[in-house]
Amino acid sequence: MTSAATMPRPVLEGQTVVLIGGSAGIGFETARLALAEGADVILTGRNPDRLAQAAADLGVHRTAAFDASDAAAMQQFFDGLPGPVDHVLVTAGGPKYGPLLEMDVDEIRATLSDHVVLGLNVARNAARMRPGGTLLLMGGTGGRRVSSSGGIVPAATALLPPFVAELAVELAPVRVNLIAAGFVDTPLSAELLGDQLEARRRELRAKLPIGRVVGPADVAALAVHIMSNTALTGATYDIDGGQQFVQA
Ligand SMILES: NC(=O)c1ccc[n+]([C@@H]2O[C@H](COP(=O)([O-])OP(=O)(O)OC[C@H]3O[C@@H](n4cnc5c(N)ncnc54)[C@H](OP(=O)(O)O)[C@@H]3O)[C@@H](O)[C@H]2O)c1
Repeated sequence: MTSAATMPRPVLEGQTVVLIGGSAGIGFETARLALAEGADVILTGRNPDRLAQAAADLGVHRTAAFDASDAAAMQQFFDGLPGPVDHVLVTAGGPKYGPLLEMDVDEIRATLSDHVVLGLNVARNAARMRPGGTLLLMGGTGGRRVSSSGGIVPAATALLPPFVAELAVELAPVRVNLIAAGFVDTPLSAELLGDQLEARRRELRAKLPIGRVVGPADVAALAVHIMSNTALTGATYDIDGGQQFVQA
């Protein structure tokens, strides 16, 4: 029998976790797990109604609706926090596909720099973060493969691991890490695939070495591990069920 004295303590007890993009998908599931692991959670997102619904579903009391690509809004958010933050997961922003030669210069610039600028906007507020906490950014494994439809995505994907490693050195003792996901079954994937979603799930179940589709709760488990394991910094963690090793 396990007595209360021998029960493992929740790994994020007394810590504060901010989800920049927490009203859906990977951010939402990470919020759910962080709460279960004893954290105080602050959810952000652009759409206030979606955010309010997510907060109600999770029982979260602190939310802020703003666009994470707005540096001034990001600073205002961090300045308004009542205390220090331990961990920040950034799930805002997404890939932009399309043939390179059809993208104009501004699109290329924006797509190459979006995640880096977003990460930096959060990092500039790292004075609000406790030593040992982590800033966590999202990348992907799919974008490592060059293909006729990859466009600027492989180049934008390749930037992130060295950017995160460099930031980890500059921001120490705050840690910085990158999660590189394959297909994750989230509202973003549903939106991108439309009526092809079910066929894609079937294909992945058949082809992935793990025999199932990766869900946002899988990524949340990795995110919470990286938050709680203070040995981890400057690194990239793949979570794609082996997708990068098969044609899927
Ligand atoms: N799903 C995948 O297969 C996959 C694979 C590899 C990498 N990723 C990356 O992982 C991240 C999360 O993906 P997901 O599938 O969880 O996405 P999702 O289901 O669309 O959820 C994204 C969340 O972020 C918020 N958000 C988006 N843009 C924002 C912005 N500019 N400012 C503030 N909040 C913003 C959204 O709410 P609002 O729209 O209301 O703002 C929502 O809460 C993305 O960067 C995505 O590119 C996803």
